[in-house]
Amino acid sequence: MTKKIAVLPGDGIGPEIVAEAVKVLDYLNADMSLDLSLEYGLIGGAAYDAHGTPFPEQTLVLAKQADAVLLGAVGGYKWESLDIAVRPEKGLLGLRSELQLFANLRPAILYPQLISASTLKAEVVSGLDILIVRELTGGIYFGQPRGVRLLDNGEKQGYNTLVYSESEIRRIAHSAFQVAQKRNRRLCSVDKANVLECTELWRQVVTEIGRQYPDVELSHMYVDNAAMQLVRAPKQFDVLVTTNMFGDILSDISAMLTGSIGMLPSASLDANNKGMYEPIHGSAPDIAGKGVANPLATILSAAMMLRYTFNRSDAAGRIEDAVNKALNSNIRTADIYSEGMQKVGSAAMGDAVISALKEGA
Ligand code: IPM
Ligand code: MG
Repeated sequence: MTKKIAVLPGDGIGPEIVAEAVKVLDYLNADMSLDLSLEYGLIGGAAYDAHGTPFPEQTLVLAKQADAVLLGAVGGYKWESLDIAVRPEKGLLGLRSELQLFANLRPAILYPQLISASTLKAEVVSGLDILIVRELTGGIYFGQPRGVRLLDNGEKQGYNTLVYSESEIRRIAHSAFQVAQKRNRRLCSVDKANVLECTELWRQVVTEIGRQYPDVELSHMYVDNAAMQLVRAPKQFDVLVTTNMFGDILSDISAMLTGSIGMLPSASLDANNKGMYEPIHGSAPDIAGKGVANPLATILSAAMMLRYTFNRSDAAGRIEDAVNKALNSNIRTADIYSEGMQKVGSAAMGDAVISALKEGA
């Protein structure tokens, strides 16, 4: 059966890196008869410019009809002064929420070839392979009430609400325990239960769900300590599960452990493994349009799509091997460049992955 992919390149470097991932998908589609069909849509600032909204109805329809979504990035200087309700980021958040993509998987793997690109000492990060499971459709990102109000004394006050219901915590906990079962069976739940009632409930519910997974060793950590531990001794972790905002922050830290945020893919899944796949980095407006962005995070996101939504671990594995091979050569995009290497742009890096796929076939 035809597998429909909604491709939403978005803003900034989005179109450049998505083009490389599409090259890889097109190649494998032909080579392995994957029966993929790609359809393009607008999201973020690009959608705002064309339709006055970062999340047009036709994009929602396209995404809902598709089996999976491949997204580049959203946002940029151009739209920073817009009202928050129509900012590019609202398009991405709307999509996550409308499609109920509550389970965000953000793996951080250090490729040995990139060890010198990490700002941390080699012994701290060598062999790193951790996974952050971030709750993606709740918490303070979506809690009501929210806004900026005028107080009686004439002063403005900004406010947001951190909320999690038991059912929201339960479903993300199940996802996290289940992915931990497929890895090294250690799960660390990150909260701020010493200060925030909402995450005190989080800890209770995760502990309760843990009784159904006796084969997974569960621990709990406060988020400030987790941030410190990720930089101090990241290899102590296997899987981390946490709230939307803590996951946003911790996944940027874990990305940098691997040398570059340009290497990290992500999957955002609903209850049926329909998913949206995107690099965890943003739109990088400072380098947009220059053809220098690292496309590997997006290419690896396409691999996650093949694995999680389309159950094609064989095809996913081929992409991952090809990325590994491409890194064995001396070509590097600027973000992972180190001395003695040859600096290349997005297209050359994409081509290197395709060549490696051809060689490996
Ligand atoms: C991410 C990004 C988004 C988020 C932004 C672009 C809304 O930082 O996916 O981590 O905060 O979730
Ligand atoms: Mg982020």
